[in-house]
Amino acid sequence: MKIVVLTGSPHKVGTSSLLADSFIDGAKEAGHEIYRFDAAFEKVHPCIACDKCKCGENPCVFQDSMTKLFPQLREADMIAFVTPLYFYGPSSQIKAVIDRFYGINNLLRGTDKKAVLLVSGTNNRDWAMHGIVGNYTEALQYLRWQDCGKVLAKSCRTREDIEKTDYPEQAYQLGKMV
Ligand SMILES: Cc1cc2nc3c(=O)[nH]c(=O)nc-3n(C[C@H](O)[C@H](O)[C@H](O)COP(=O)(O)O)c2cc1C
Repeated sequence: MKIVVLTGSPHKVGTSSLLADSFIDGAKEAGHEIYRFDAAFEKVHPCIACDKCKCGENPCVFQDSMTKLFPQLREADMIAFVTPLYFYGPSSQIKAVIDRFYGINNLLRGTDKKAVLLVSGTNNRDWAMHGIVGNYTEALQYLRWQDCGKVLAKSCRTREDIEKTDYPEQAYQLGKMV
């Protein structure tokens, strides 16, 4: 499978980057091909809803890092969304990328792609991930993509916190089994 891994953290050595690295290790070991896009280190203009996008030939008025990501998204069999929890949703960096899916909506929707969600956050309450999981689930329903698993790393504020848990192992196993 060809897997696009989208990350949303500005921390190169943070909690969600460990989830991404572990997932990628597992997926590579299982023979999958990875394309990683670290949104926080790319140029991605937020969608301005100009509706000038023409799917395929002219996906967006902005010529930024999405230009290289669009073909990767089209070819991917699976998208892995990896983000820190920011105000109970995804970080703005990865959200900007997801909003820009709009430019090739018709080419992504109904394509039966697979997806996984990996999130890290500080809160340890049982409701802490409800919002982001709901958002992910509804987006997948709209796109008609299939969820293949989630790693929801609670109580993880720092790298040291997450290193003491089995969440990286969960991410590795998820990568291996997808
Ligand atoms: C702007 C901002 C918003 C945050 N919002 C939440 C939140 O809503 N819930 C939560 O549990 N943690 C929240 N956190 C904490 C981060 O999710 C947590 O520290 C995470 O491990 C950071 O991941 P990273 O190291 O991959 O960047 C927030 C942190 C920042 C900087």
